[in-house]
Amino acid sequence: MLSNLKLGQKFTLMLLAVFLGGILMSGIALSKLLNHTAQAELTNKALMLMETMNSVRQYTVDEVRPELADRSETEFLPETVPSYSAHQVFATLQASPEYQDFFYKEAVLDPTNPKDQADEFETKLVNSFQRPDSPEELHNFRNTPGGKLFYIARPIQIKQEACLTCHSTPDKAPKSMIDLYGSEGGFNWKLNEIVGTQVISVPAQTVFSQANQSLLITLVVFTGVFALAILLVNLWLKRYVVRPINRMAATAEAVSTGDTKAEFVKWSDDEVGNLTDSFNRMRLSLQMAMQRLERHRRKRKGNPGPG
Ligand code: HEC
Repeated sequence: MLSNLKLGQKFTLMLLAVFLGGILMSGIALSKLLNHTAQAELTNKALMLMETMNSVRQYTVDEVRPELADRSETEFLPETVPSYSAHQVFATLQASPEYQDFFYKEAVLDPTNPKDQADEFETKLVNSFQRPDSPEELHNFRNTPGGKLFYIARPIQIKQEACLTCHSTPDKAPKSMIDLYGSEGGFNWKLNEIVGTQVISVPAQTVFSQANQSLLITLVVFTGVFALAILLVNLWLKRYVVRPINRMAATAEAVSTGDTKAEFVKWSDDEVGNLTDSFNRMRLSLQMAMQRLERHRRKRKGNPGPG
């Protein structure tokens, strides 16, 4: 079937096969790579956000709390709570388009504020952070009722005595805080204990759409380059191979029907040009042979032999 096709069609078909195979393989490889890159980029961004949140928490403990210590005696000031400042700052960040998809949670096994209660999945994360050989950070995808999420989690460890003012026992905590939060949760935390996990998440869609966008651009460029290659090969083939061969075929046809003036015209110095030379030599030999034959015939006519 392939041998019935014209040269141009054969080349186009071959290039298309290479192109489709190439695009399929590189598409798969590229998609994996881009997903990986998108994940790495989001992880980096999330880790930076976490560092920022931790710095804000530290700032609250070191600078804000001592400053407001007197007023904290009589009334509860959320501004002195590190977790509060972190959440406030994060909410401000979320207002910018770059961070609007990000969620922030301080998921704790026994939290002060019930909204920070670790769910089943986060509890597992905390448990793995509590193991002696635990990793510094975990990231992966998780399914939630709201859709698939990409999360980055780090342990929350009680590293400072200052935290225990409010998180050791209810009688040590400020009364104003107990009035507001009760004495149920967020207590009996120990120094160096891992009480929860700090989680930043983004919809998985964000990861994929970032990767897909890059993939699409690359594939469009790739397809464009290949389409151009197929077009150029076809044009080139027509100009330097198909057309000269067709012309040669027409001349050969004329020569074969006795047209002595028909000549193979040479257009190029490549293999096709060499072929034209050979054909011209063949045509000359043929003409000479014909002339010789003609002379011989005439001689025989004018001088008939003995019969
Ligand atoms: C002034 C008292 C106070 C101090 C000091 C304090 N916290 Fe808290 N912490 C709170 C309160 C109140 C909340 C609940 C805030 C809210 O409503 O989200 C909280 C919330 C948290 C949460 C979120 C989970 C939860 O329990 O709701 C974490 C984690 C946390 N604190 C860790 C710490 C660490 C670590 C330190 C020391 C660096 C610290 N806290 C110091 C009062 C305090």
